[in-house]
Amino acid sequence: MEIGTILRKTELEKADLIRLLNCTGVEEKQLFQHSQAIRNQTVGNGVHMRGLIEISNICIKDCLYCGIRKSNHQAKRYELSDEEIIRSALFAYENHYGSVVLQGGERNDPDFILRIEHLLKEIKHLSHDRLGITLSFGEQSEETYQRWFDAGAHRYLLRIETSNENLYRKIHPNNRLHDFHTRRNCLRLLQKCGYQTGTGVMIGLPFQKTEDLADDLLFLKSMDIDMVGMGPYLEHRDTPLWAFRHLLGSQQDRLRWGLHMVSCLRLLMPDINIAATTALQAIDPEGREKALQIGANVIMPNITPLTNRGNYRLYENKPGMDEGAEDSTRRLIESVRKSGCEIRLDQWGDSLHFQERMKNRT
Ligand code: 5AD
Repeated sequence: MEIGTILRKTELEKADLIRLLNCTGVEEKQLFQHSQAIRNQTVGNGVHMRGLIEISNICIKDCLYCGIRKSNHQAKRYELSDEEIIRSALFAYENHYGSVVLQGGERNDPDFILRIEHLLKEIKHLSHDRLGITLSFGEQSEETYQRWFDAGAHRYLLRIETSNENLYRKIHPNNRLHDFHTRRNCLRLLQKCGYQTGTGVMIGLPFQKTEDLADDLLFLKSMDIDMVGMGPYLEHRDTPLWAFRHLLGSQQDRLRWGLHMVSCLRLLMPDINIAATTALQAIDPEGREKALQIGANVIMPNITPLTNRGNYRLYENKPGMDEGAEDSTRRLIESVRKSGCEIRLDQWGDSLHFQERMKNRT
C-alpha cells in the first residue's frame, strides 16, 4: 500500500505500523512531515520542560540491561540529601521550568516512602503549590501511590520496557520482583489513583522485532496512556545483556527506530505528551531535537547536582555528565528553537489527553 494511503487512514492497524516503522527515504520524509503536522494541529508546537532530579541510584531491582541494577558492584551508589533535592527543585521553579521529575532507583522500604512524601510536601509548600511534580520510582503498592498523590505528585512515569511478555522475561531476572503482570497492573493502579500516567519502552533490544515495536505502540493506545517516554536501548558493559550485543542493530539504526516510534505514536495518539528522551541524544547530539521536530513535545533537562551526575549511569555515554544546570538549560532552550518549537515556561504542561479524559469523566 502507498504510504500516503496509510497516512490518510483513520485507524492504523498493526500491518500499517510495521510498514511505517520500516519506511525509508522519501517515504520516511512523508511520515515525519505528517506526524509533525498532526502534532502542530493538536497539541501545538509548544514544548514543556521538566527538570529531572535523579535522587539516588540505589535500587532493589536487577534488570539485565540497566547500569544501576542491584548486582552491578561497579556502580558507585549515592543518595542526594533532602537539601540538595529541594535546592534543585527550587532551581527549576526559579528558572520557570513549571515542573520537576523526581526519579531514582526502586525502593519500597517504609523510610523511603515516608521520605518521598515529606519531600513532596516541602517542594509543594516552597513553590507556593506552583511547581508540578512527576515521580518515577518504579513499582509500588496502591497505598504508596495514593499517599504520594495526596502529598502533591500528579504525574508518574513507569515504563513497561516492552509489551511482549516473553521478551520482558528475557531481559529481566525470572522472579516475583520482576513480573510483567505486576508492572502492567501498576499502570492501572496509577490511573486509578488519578495520576497522569506515563509509560514507554526501549527500542532496539536484543531479540526485539519490528512486530514487537508495532505491538508496543498498540499497547500504549490500549492502555489509554497520557504520556510516553521511549528511547533506544544502549548496551552497558557491566550488565548481563552486554553478552548479546552481537544481536543488536547499529546505534544509528536504533536512533532511526526511535524516531519512527515517536512519529508513529503521534499518529496513533495525537493528543498525548511525548518526551524527546536523553537516550536519543546519547546516540546523536541532535537526537532530542530531531524527535521534537517530528512529534515529541516534552523535554527533561537534567538538573541533578553535578557531583552525582556521573553515578546515575543507566547506559554508557550518557550525555550531559559534565555540564552544570545553567549550561544544560541554556543549551536546551537554543536547541528547542532550532527544531521549530517554542518552549512553554511556567506551565505544568499537562497532557491534553488527560484533560480530555477528565472532562469526559464529569
Ligand atoms: N538503555 C536504554 N535505556 C535504559 N534504561 C535502563 N537501562 C537502559 C539501557 N541500557 C531505561 C529504562 C528505565 C529508564 C529509567 O531507563 O527504560 O525505565
